[in-house]
Formats: sequence, structure tokens, C-alpha cells
Amino acid sequence: MVNKILSPDRQGLAEERLAAPDVHHEPHGFSDRFALGFTKLLRFSADTFFAKRYGHRAIVLETVAAVPGMVGATIQHLTCLRRMKDDDGWIRTLMEEAENERMHLMTFIEVAKPTYFERLVIQIAQAVFYVGFFLLYLVSARTAHRVVGYFEEEAVISYTLYLKEIDEGRSPNVPAPEIAKHYWKMAPDATLRDVVLVVRADEAHHRDVNHGFASSLNGEAIDHGLAAPYPAHAAEIRA
Ligand SMILES: [Fe+2]
Ligand SMILES: [Fe+2]
Repeated sequence: MVNKILSPDRQGLAEERLAAPDVHHEPHGFSDRFALGFTKLLRFSADTFFAKRYGHRAIVLETVAAVPGMVGATIQHLTCLRRMKDDDGWIRTLMEEAENERMHLMTFIEVAKPTYFERLVIQIAQAVFYVGFFLLYLVSARTAHRVVGYFEEEAVISYTLYLKEIDEGRSPNVPAPEIAKHYWKMAPDATLRDVVLVVRADEAHHRDVNHGFASSLNGEAIDHGLAAPYPAHAAEIRA
């Protein structure tokens, strides 16, 4: 597979990257392979557990997806304090990612109500994943960001499949929740399909940003302006 992430020859093609859910960072070295293997293992678990229940899948996975940004922001913040150095904008980017993922969760809660069993799975998954990701970030921030980049590749694929379910009538295209219409500044008659499109665009942006962070920690020169475009979000969040 061709590495299409952040390669200079694709300058100016951000929109095309967004429309291509098969964007994939080709792994180089042990760190990347570990990140990809870990992601594939979790993908397999999610596929087994949820099958095609995309609304429920989104709820559980978004509770996990909202963790890395906050962990990364915390550790980058503490590192900058200790080393007395600038963060180059990483901390706010990561905190914003965490907030954005939380908004994904709040939106899908309105679409599919989690069962008691799913709430239990969420609590266990958060305890395990938070501690595990924190330790991974301490050991190798590069690997941690690569893991998120690969998670987001899978998220883009999952939301593309969710769109297919809606388009083929297997999932009802219900009206967009109010919280989503406010957050993504959507039209009053927006639907679930519109929501999935902007959520997928958010994930594509996170994918490119995190692969970019991982590559820059690997000493590669990265142009962050090449990331898939981020949809507009409301400045103030309201439930
Ligand atoms: Fe998300
Ligand atoms: Fe994401």
C-alpha cells in the first residue's frame, strides 16, 4: 500500500484526502508496526463485539477515543514545564481533540442509547485504556501518536461503513440531534447522515495530525497544513 499521509506531492489535495477513506500510513520500524498491530487487535475486538451496530459501536469507541488527547496534553504540558520550552501548539491541539471526541460521544448518545452492559464495558475499558495509554505515552510518545493515527484510520473506515448502512436503508436516517446541529453549525433540517459526514471529517483530521506528530517525533519534517480539513465547530459547547 502506498503511504499517502503527509507526502509533499499531495500538497493542495487536502479535500481529496478527506474523500479517500483508504488513506494509510505505511509502517516503518518496530514502533509503527507495534502501533498498527495493537490497532488491528482492537479493531478485531470491536468487529466481534459490535458487528454492524454502528451507533452502539460509536458510543463505546468514542469513550476510548476521547482519552489520548487529554493524556497527550497532560504529558506534553508537564514536559514543557520541566524543560522550560515551548509546546509549538501541541497542547491546545490535543485538548481540542479530546473535546471534539467528547462531542462525538454526546452526539451518538442521542442516536443510540447505551445498554447497561455497554456502560459496564465503557467503565472497564476506560480504566484499562487510560492507564495503558498513559504508560505508553511516557515510554514512547511517538508510538502513542502513531497508535492514535491508526485508530483514526479505522474510525474513518467505520464511519464510511456507517454511511453505507444509512444509504442502503439498514440504519434509519433520523434527524440530527440538537447538540450536533449546534456544535457543527448545521442546517435545521440536518440528518444523521450529515452528522456522520462531519464526524468522519473530524476523524480524518485527527488521523493526519497524529500521524504528523508521530513522524515529527521521529525527526521527519512535517507540514501540518496538509492535514485533512477540520469542519467548523461552535466556539461554545452546550448540551
Ligand atoms: Fe470520534
Ligand atoms: Fe477521532
